[in-house]
Amino acid sequence: MKYFFANWKMYLDLKQSLAFAEDISNLEFDNSKVGVSVFPNQITLCEVSEKLKGGGIYFGTQNVDWENSGAYSGATSVHMFKEIGCDFALVGHSERREVFGETNEDVRRKVEACLGGGIIPVLCIGETKEEKDSGKRNEILMEQLRSALEGLDKSNTKIMVAYEPIWAIGTGEACEPLEAKEVHLWIKEEYKKYFSNKDVEILYGGSVDAQNVLSYLSIDSISGVLVGSASTKIESFSAILKIVENL
Ligand code: 13P
Repeated sequence: MKYFFANWKMYLDLKQSLAFAEDISNLEFDNSKVGVSVFPNQITLCEVSEKLKGGGIYFGTQNVDWENSGAYSGATSVHMFKEIGCDFALVGHSERREVFGETNEDVRRKVEACLGGGIIPVLCIGETKEEKDSGKRNEILMEQLRSALEGLDKSNTKIMVAYEPIWAIGTGEACEPLEAKEVHLWIKEEYKKYFSNKDVEILYGGSVDAQNVLSYLSIDSISGVLVGSASTKIESFSAILKIVENL
């Protein structure tokens, strides 16, 4: 089974999210063939999940904070996301790192909090165009990966990774599938070295749409896709869903 994870970012407000959720609830699909999770904006998450309840769709948050409860203005804990039915959390998305200054240490704390609270962290890693062009890609990815996993209990962890090259996000310039395959295989090897030989599921993200999704999903080492803008329109959402389901 492959995954279709839909990151709605800050594209849809409450009204739009609910209308979109209504459209999605009319789609029929076999959830034993495709793992679908939507990641709505935090403020819409409760109502969207209520609307889609029972339809075989999972939910996730686009971000989470590491503290559990207390005097942390503006923060939302893993426990709170779990309470409203979230199974996944995107952690370390490049937009959080680049726009909001999240550090590798912040990401590590968030991964740790997710694991402690029973939410599967989807650890997002990726390099900039400059890093790629200067041959630093692997170094950057390794630093992001290793620092996020530092000190974790290696025996009892379920983590997913999303490889999202920053230069491919929202640019229409998706990573070539064979290049993505190579990077995924390399990440898997690194992860195994660090995590007692465990395999890790890795999603590809960055300008995925209904036209190119199959070229990623037909590759073994790519467990699924993390889709931004194409997951916020019903035509492309349903087209991607069908393709993943019928693999
Ligand atoms: P796009 O699909 O819009 O390029 O965004 C990818 C992404 O950042 C998903 O998390």
